[in-house]
Amino acid sequence: MLAEGGDYAAAADLMSQALENAPDWAAGWDLLGTFHEKSGEVAGAISAWRRLEALDDDGVFGARLKLAAHNAGAAGEGTAVSYVEALFDQYAPQFERSLVDKLGYRVPEMLDGLVVEQMVALGIERFAKAIDLGCGTGLMGEKLRAKVDFLEGVDISAAMIAETARKGIYDNLQKAELVAALNARRAEADLMTAADVFIYCGDLQPVLAALVPALKPGGLVAFSLEAHDGEEAVFLRPSLRYAHGIAATRDALVVAGLEVLRFETATLRRDRGVPITGILVLARKPPVELTAANDGASGGNVAA
Ligand SMILES: C[S@@+](CC[C@H](N)C(=O)[O-])C[C@H]1O[C@@H](n2cnc3c(N)ncnc32)[C@H](O)[C@@H]1O
Repeated sequence: MLAEGGDYAAAADLMSQALENAPDWAAGWDLLGTFHEKSGEVAGAISAWRRLEALDDDGVFGARLKLAAHNAGAAGEGTAVSYVEALFDQYAPQFERSLVDKLGYRVPEMLDGLVVEQMVALGIERFAKAIDLGCGTGLMGEKLRAKVDFLEGVDISAAMIAETARKGIYDNLQKAELVAALNARRAEADLMTAADVFIYCGDLQPVLAALVPALKPGGLVAFSLEAHDGEEAVFLRPSLRYAHGIAATRDALVVAGLEVLRFETATLRRDRGVPITGILVLARKPPVELTAANDGASGGNVAA
């Protein structure tokens, strides 16, 4: 009640007293950290999250991410999978109401717009198989459905998958971490989408390294990122979402062997009243694959 009324210092004080009686209560340490953070007591927040880190074996509270976001620890490489899973399992029932209705979320429309534009430009009538990574409640799938013969959704959160399953949009739904799911596939999809998903994955390079082999030659990928204009390739925001640098993102696309068809910045949604600027990417795996053998034989661009 104190926190809801905005008196975070008093809430932190009360929570500290509760934790004297229940020192192993992980959720209590998490709340104490949040109350301290909101009252401007960053040192108190860090010390609470350090206690949390020791209790949070599975990482569901994201203690390491919270410490890293306050420059008090390394975020570690890759996605904080357990944290993301727990976050969206909790968020699933109100996801669409909060994101679309309250925060003006438009990423699926914007990515779909880029896909449609390239279908026209490249003369693509339909996609045989598309995979929507981090499909959530299916907002991206709804946009894609009419132009895809077989549409798959992959998501780490069972509760998000359950929400989307009710709508019957996808031909197949898989509960899985996306890099693991992609690593099990080879040249399968002619379209992949990830709307507001790689912002939970940190470094782009391992994600793209798993994604590209799972795309068919000539296949398209459309995704969004939160953008920042600093020097870093990627950094963790206090929101616990990653922001990617514009130059580093372009480099990662080149390193992954993708041909960039569209690369633009746009407002993705609002966060605490502030518009979040993002990067929208539409890229293509080159339609002609060079192999060592044919490259050596001809010295030129020969179809595999
Ligand atoms: C902000 S929601 C976006 C959902 C949907 N793409 C949309 O535009 O409405 C992010 C989704 O990505 C999923 N997600 C995040 N990281 C993931 C990962 N590494 N593997 C699989 N799913 C992931 C989350 O569970 C969540 O459902």
